Order: sequence, then C-alpha cells, then structure tokens
Amino acid sequence: MKTYLVTGGAGFIGSNYVKYLLSSFDDVRLVVLDALTYAGNLGTISKDIDEKRCFFVKGDICDAVLVDELFKTYAIDVVVNFAAESHVDRSIENPRLFLETNIMGTQNLMDVARRYWVTGKDANGYPTWSPQVRYHQVSTDEVYGSLGAEGFFTETTPLDPRSPYSASKTSADLIVKAYIETYHFPATLTRCSNNYGPYHFPEKLIPLIIRNILSGKPLPVYGDGTNVRDWLYVEDHCKAIELVVRKGRVGEVYNVGGHNEKQNIEIVRMTIDTVRQLMEEQPEYQSVLKTDLSNISYDLIQYVRDRLGHDQRYAIDPAKINSELGWLPETPFAEGIVKTIRWYLEHQDWVEEVTSGDYQKYYEQMYSKR
Ligand code: NAD
Ligand code: DAU
Repeated sequence: MKTYLVTGGAGFIGSNYVKYLLSSFDDVRLVVLDALTYAGNLGTISKDIDEKRCFFVKGDICDAVLVDELFKTYAIDVVVNFAAESHVDRSIENPRLFLETNIMGTQNLMDVARRYWVTGKDANGYPTWSPQVRYHQVSTDEVYGSLGAEGFFTETTPLDPRSPYSASKTSADLIVKAYIETYHFPATLTRCSNNYGPYHFPEKLIPLIIRNILSGKPLPVYGDGTNVRDWLYVEDHCKAIELVVRKGRVGEVYNVGGHNEKQNIEIVRMTIDTVRQLMEEQPEYQSVLKTDLSNISYDLIQYVRDRLGHDQRYAIDPAKINSELGWLPETPFAEGIVKTIRWYLEHQDWVEEVTSGDYQKYYEQMYSKR
C-alpha cells in the first residue's frame, strides 16, 4: 500500500485521476490537497472521500507548514502535482498568481518531500532516496510553444513558452529538472496536450461551448478559428500519468497526446452537431434546454477578438511513452466527445454548482470586451 498526495484533486484532471485510482487499484491510499479555488469543487469528489482510502485537506500547495504536516501525518510516498492555475486567458489578466502557485507551489512540495524522503548520501555527496518514493509533475505541451503547419513536439523540442501560464509551467518544469540534476530527486514529468471529458470547468473551450449552446448564447471563437489543439480524453491522460508514476524512469519527461488534432472551429461545429443529434435521438435531453432546439445551429458561432499571443498549433508525438511503457490513447475523439456531451447533459446540476460563484462576472469581463 502506498500513500499518494494528489494536489489539485478537486479540479478537472485531478478529480478524474482520483476516481481512476480508487476504482482501478487496491494498493493506494490518497490524500487530496486542494485550495478549492474557483476551479476546484469539493462536490466533484465528495463521494470518493471516505476517510479510509481517500482523505481531503483544504489548503495551499505553497503552505510549507501544512504540506509538512501532511507528510508527517500520512507518511506520503508519492506526490502527483496537478494543482495549478490552469487557464491561459486568466494568466493574461493576472500573471502573478500563476507564478506563485505554479512555480513556488511546485518548489514547496519538492522541498518538503526532500526532507521526508532522503535516506542518506552516496559517495559523491548526492542524496539517496527511499526506493518507494516518487514525485510526479503534471505539465503541459504548452511549454514547447507553438507549431506551424508541420511537425510535432517531442521531449527534446526546445522549451519556448509564450503565455504567462505556459511560462509558469515551464519554470516549474525547470525547477523539477534542477532538483533531478542537483539532488538526484526521484521525479518524473508528463507533458500532455488538451484534455476533455467530465468535470471540465466551463471556462475552457469545450464545456463553455456546451453550456452556451444549451442556453442559445453566442459561441465565442477566437480569431479565425483555425488554431489547432491535440485533444485527449481525460481518462487516457490519467492512465498515462499512473503508468509513468509506476513504471517511468526517474528523471525522464514523457509527452502524452491524443494523435487528434482539430481546428477550434471544427470542435465547435462537432459540438453543435452532437448536441443536436443527442437531443433528437433522446428527446428527454431537451428538458435541459433553455432555448428552442431550432436555435441550435452554426448561426450561434461568433468570431471574436483573438487571444493575445494565441499559440497557433499544438501537436504531441507520444512515441516515447508508447515505446517505453506501451501507452496509447484508447478513446477515439468521435466516441469521447459523445461521452462528454452526454455527461454534461446529465450533470447540469454540477454545471450550475460550479458556475454559481463569480462565473457570470468572469464571463462578462472576459467576453464583453471582445
Ligand atoms: P483545473 O484548473 O481544473 O484544476 C486545478 C485545481 O488546482 C483546482 O482544483 C484548484 O482548486 C487547485 N489549486 C489551484 N491553486 C492551488 C493551490 N495554490 N494549492 C492547492 N490547490 C490549488 O486544472 P486542470 O485542467 O485539471 O489541470 C491540472 C493540471 O494539469 C495543471 O497542472 C495543468 O497545468 C495540467 N494540464 C492541464 C491540461 C488540460 O487540458 N486541462 C493539459 C495538460 C496539462
Ligand atoms: O495544451 C494543454 C493546455 O490546454 C493546458 O495546459 C491548459 O491548462 C488548458 O487550459 C488548455 O489550454 P488552451 O488554451 O489550449 O485551452 P482552452 O480551452 O482555453 O482553449 C482551447 C482553444 O480554443 C484555444 O485555441 C483558444 C480557443 N478558445 C477558447 C475559449 C475559452 C476559443 O476560441 N474561445 C473560447 O471561448
């Protein structure tokens, strides 16, 4: 039995990972640490918290005293760091918070882990580590910058972040790499492409579009809609992370991607088509509509002012994780997008809950300017 500290476990990917671990492995006990920012929602994982195999602690990854207390109380073996400010548009408005959480939070977690996990020194003065410990940094393909029409990001692509968000994630990666080199710190990193699936906060493209379609609101497409993202179903990402935590080589970076490039405008059109199709096939879904079914059409698409510094294209080459660890994406996009949209149609209570705070204010501030 190993005890995992899962940070950011009440957010989108972290909560999916918590559910995946609890349902797939008997040899793990989880401590979820989450500050419950606007992006975290305790209700998302409340059924998973049982105070036996899964504990929840509300708190900040930057809080050294709290993180120390967690290592002492729970004897943490593995840290999987999802906690972050994750939305590029918000990083353009308020970069500082991104630097604090994403960089200093990462450094704080590693420093506490270092104190608890070190077992001694080798002949060259490097720290030695308990064999069962592991730190895993959940990173992003955005650290590699932006691609033109051709090519893929590999693990050796130079780092070239272009937004405050991606600069903060890149800085965190560099701190992790520095600990690996300097202390032989037992860490791994994964850099993943865009995720989609259940529990995705509706500030991000796909859940925002679904939410707006259901109320007949305009669907904001930045620029000309030709920017490309490489979409991966969230559970496939969770599986990749767990494979790296268990079998990945210490010190290594693994790229994770869906081999599923789509222009934003294609995503928006597919989402409109799929919502309509599901509504027609299963008329009971129409009960969640706040508009007439006939309004759900491409006419809702509204091209708006582009994101500042908008990266043109991301595309991951996942050959390394495939050849070393046998990982491949399992969920074809056509299947994943239907599953996702069904989930949203059936969980409007969750959407209401997570958008009940400042969401409306955020939305107006962000989109009325465009
Ligand atoms: P999210 O915004 O949905 O969730 C982030 C979670 O972290 C929230 O629950 C929030 O409350 C928590 N959090 C924020 N600041 C915190 C702090 N200081 N202390 C403790 N908890 C804090 O994000 P997500 O989309 O689930 O992303 C998770 C991780 O995966 C991030 O590190 C992100 O950079 C990375 N990532 C995301 C994607 C994607 O497509 N969403 C792709 C690749 C990598
Ligand atoms: O690539 C991985 C990254 O994917 C993660 O590291 C980030 O945490 C995650 O938020 C995501 O970043 P993106 O900026 O790619 O995701 P977002 O959903 O915000 O936007 C996807 C694309 O859609 C992007 O090209 C911008 C565009 N977009 C987004 C929104 C919110 C629109 O056209 N309209 C919108 O309203």
